[in-house]
Amino acid sequence: MARSKRRSVLGFANRRQFFGRAGGAALALTPVALLPACGGGGGDDEPAPTPPGSGPFQHGVASGDPLPDRVILWTRVTPASGSAGSVAVTCVVATDTALANVVATLSLTADAARDYTVKVDATGLAPATTYYYRFGAAGASSPIGRTRTLASTTSSLRMAAVSCSNFAAGYFNAYARIAERADLDLVVHLGDYIYEFGTDQGDVRAVEPSFETVTLADYRLRHAQYKRDPDLQEMHRQHPVIAIWDDHDIASNANATGSQNHTEGIEGTWTDRVAAALQAFYEWLPVRVVDAADPRKNYRSFAIGNLVELLMLEERVVARSPQLPGNATLPDTFRQRDAFLDPSREMLGSVQQDWVAGRLRTSTAKWKFLAQGVMFAQLKLEAQTIAEGGGLFANADQWDGYQPARDRMYQVLKGDASHAAVGNVVVISGDAHSSWAADLTQDPSNSNVAAGGYDPNTGAGSRAVEFVGTSVTSPMILDTHGLAESLLLSVNPQFKYINLSRRGYLLIDANTARVVGEWWFVDTVASRGAGQSFATAFQVVDGAQHLVPAAQTSARPNPPPLAPA
Ligand SMILES: [Fe+2]
Repeated sequence: MARSKRRSVLGFANRRQFFGRAGGAALALTPVALLPACGGGGGDDEPAPTPPGSGPFQHGVASGDPLPDRVILWTRVTPASGSAGSVAVTCVVATDTALANVVATLSLTADAARDYTVKVDATGLAPATTYYYRFGAAGASSPIGRTRTLASTTSSLRMAAVSCSNFAAGYFNAYARIAERADLDLVVHLGDYIYEFGTDQGDVRAVEPSFETVTLADYRLRHAQYKRDPDLQEMHRQHPVIAIWDDHDIASNANATGSQNHTEGIEGTWTDRVAAALQAFYEWLPVRVVDAADPRKNYRSFAIGNLVELLMLEERVVARSPQLPGNATLPDTFRQRDAFLDPSREMLGSVQQDWVAGRLRTSTAKWKFLAQGVMFAQLKLEAQTIAEGGGLFANADQWDGYQPARDRMYQVLKGDASHAAVGNVVVISGDAHSSWAADLTQDPSNSNVAAGGYDPNTGAGSRAVEFVGTSVTSPMILDTHGLAESLLLSVNPQFKYINLSRRGYLLIDANTARVVGEWWFVDTVASRGAGQSFATAFQVVDGAQHLVPAAQTSARPNPPPLAPA
């Protein structure tokens, strides 16, 4: 079994190794369910919610994939010991925290086929409306959840973005802080919601099962453990989540045909493992099925009025070509030559690429958000213009390892003889376990804008912008002196901000004039704690296509009340 085939964000066995190697060469870096119970409102005869860790609702409630008229509601019913068969579940949806003004009462069933998870698309709802809901089963009631439909017309969006929540690596304080923000419309999860590793993934909390997840039973156990976390539960209880998977939701550095952390045969077939991981993902997350015939196809779009079209991309198992090994002297680093220039290598695949291009070109939204897994911006250890060869790159798992595919995306942004250029695109990424703000340009080391280059002082030559959010818990190098950040900034002028050491989340605030990205960091992941701090903010102004520093945004006044405990 593959227990120690870990591979990092930056293409190295771990981040310390990356910086250690980089320090020796290119940059000289210094490291731094049973009967219905809940068919009505909140009357006095309602059973009290059972305490965490007991009763049928040990895994909380969740909502997701909101649309203007519907939202997915989720829970999991733990059957009584020794029981089997199906469990009757009810769900009541209301517009008030007391569940008095009921708008829907749903009758559902939980059974072993879906690991006793329950997921329903609550329809007939009103846009831009906050709802409260509660499940009932086996004479018990779930905690009250809170969700919100998307606006059909709006001039503002305020959301959080998260990624890389490794249970073993720490406590989900970032989720808890997001749960407290009553003014959010939604939360985007960019992947690595779970990690597949066994005992070699972190030393803060032990994982279940204690070994690497390979089978459906394994992935279900891992999801169940995550869903018992109180901070994760609270984020889901208070906000709708729009989630995509990244590699660790399946296996490290996953691609369409394999994974660096999968041994074909010994660990079964990749096809079976992907199917198992995705079945558990669909069971345990409030995600709407896009194509029942093809579970891998989960890329989808959310129109938030005419303000934002939120495109959620799939970059792992639909079409991604296998990651290439390094081709430069410094281990795992690479230059854009040979196989790296093979135009047949894919990140999205032609079908998804055409879908993205079509949405970008035809969307009437002010802003187009590409929410996706891996960093889109170039990350170099040595700067060279394209004409000089492009330089030395660090992470073949990111878009850097798929330059022709990235160029195809740039072609959409730039336009061609048949299509106008596309502006106001904001890429929102995770996976990096670190924080980055970037202008997106094809030739960042070339200062000649007229020749397709980029001016870091004015942002000229930038085609779009990117906000890369740090991890919820997953580790990165401790760079207390900021030296690595400074050196990376000097080599990569397209980055306006880099932080390599802190855990937390992104806050994104959009209106018709600008999109602001704020980086928020938690004080620690070594224990549960309420400390957090605002780090910095950058914004892109309508029509500008590049980032500038921004002031911290203000919370919305009089947000809908949080769901009561
Ligand atoms: Fe991750």
